[in-house]
Amino acid sequence: KKTVRDEDVSGKRVLVRVDFNVPMDQSGTIEDDTRIRACLPTITYLIDHQARVILCSHLGRPHGRVDEHLRLGPVGRRLSELVQRPVEVLREAVGPGVVRAVSEMQDGDLVLLENLRFYPGEEENDPVFARALASLADLFVNDAFGASHRAHASVVGLAAHLPCVAGLLMEKEIEQMSGLLEDPARPFAAVMGGAKVGEKIGILKNILPKVDLVLVGGGMAATFLKGRGVDVGISPVESDRMALIGTIMQEAETLGARVLLPEDLVVAGSLEAGANARVVSAGQIPADCMIADIGPLTIAAFTKELETCRTVAWNGPMGVFEIPQFSNGTTSIAQVLAGLNATTVIGGGSTAEAVTQLGLAGRMTHVSTGGGASLQFLSGKVLPGIAVLADRETHH
Ligand code: 3PG
Repeated sequence: KKTVRDEDVSGKRVLVRVDFNVPMDQSGTIEDDTRIRACLPTITYLIDHQARVILCSHLGRPHGRVDEHLRLGPVGRRLSELVQRPVEVLREAVGPGVVRAVSEMQDGDLVLLENLRFYPGEEENDPVFARALASLADLFVNDAFGASHRAHASVVGLAAHLPCVAGLLMEKEIEQMSGLLEDPARPFAAVMGGAKVGEKIGILKNILPKVDLVLVGGGMAATFLKGRGVDVGISPVESDRMALIGTIMQEAETLGARVLLPEDLVVAGSLEAGANARVVSAGQIPADCMIADIGPLTIAAFTKELETCRTVAWNGPMGVFEIPQFSNGTTSIAQVLAGLNATTVIGGGSTAEAVTQLGLAGRMTHVSTGGGASLQFLSGKVLPGIAVLADRETHH
């Protein structure tokens, strides 16, 4: 893909789509600014090369209406602290006021447009909205990997009206993610967890021919165990996925990929803080209990396997890590990965959140900023926001 480095941006108005969809409380306090920090390389590059930088993002899901709690003001202020220069935060994303503000920009200036999803045209990919955005700029840079699975006006629509290239975060995300799918150093293990099998099945199917090993934990282990005839108590099971899991297990065997399920588990009557938790072997889950985490024997077995690997992709926590007595599995796996001399790629969403909270993000090769986007990418889908980016070969 062509990137911002392939363009002469000096003196140009550059519209940069970023994913500043950060967790923010009702009072506007940003709980995790990882996604803002992740865009700094592109933003600094553009400033250093005398571009006029117009940033745009969505925040939350206001569905085409103004929501005072979802204004980008707090995000702009945090960005300003991080880049140590003024960021002009506009109260609109299109219209005469925005046109005026942009016309007054000097080289190296930074402007942040208002939440794109205040406009129905954003999610509808309305060409009128896309054109209004495009008219503000000379070049479109997409750095919003986390939003690239959405065929929205600012993600795909803009490409019809402006030359468009990848930002540096987008470039890094594509490189790291496709590295897993194309030529991973082996042994290669995929660690899969999280509550829902449904969300991970696409990745499993796509990655199976490439991996040597799949380690299954988290709530989704219940469906796998049940498929092997194990009684899982009151753990939620996705019965409609069981046949598909059977097929995948057979395929794994044909391909020579081992699939390891937990041999012991932390179980509890409910997934609440203070719930009575105990460790049982996988074959002995009490009828009134559900799976809350992987157990110590499983952690030891998974650790032993991971220590031999040269590439590890991790998607989905090993248990309900938000609750201390169910967080051991996720914490231990994160610590093991942090210490490995291997390529370690963490899928976005709750796995990234866990690794970041543990302060271990900097010790992984890559922590994706995309939740849904990284799931779809690893499932082998072509993301609409990536599909529209110019290829190096087609523009000279
Ligand atoms: C995300 O948080 O995964 C992205 O910002 C996309 O947000 P969305 O799921 O509301 O489209």
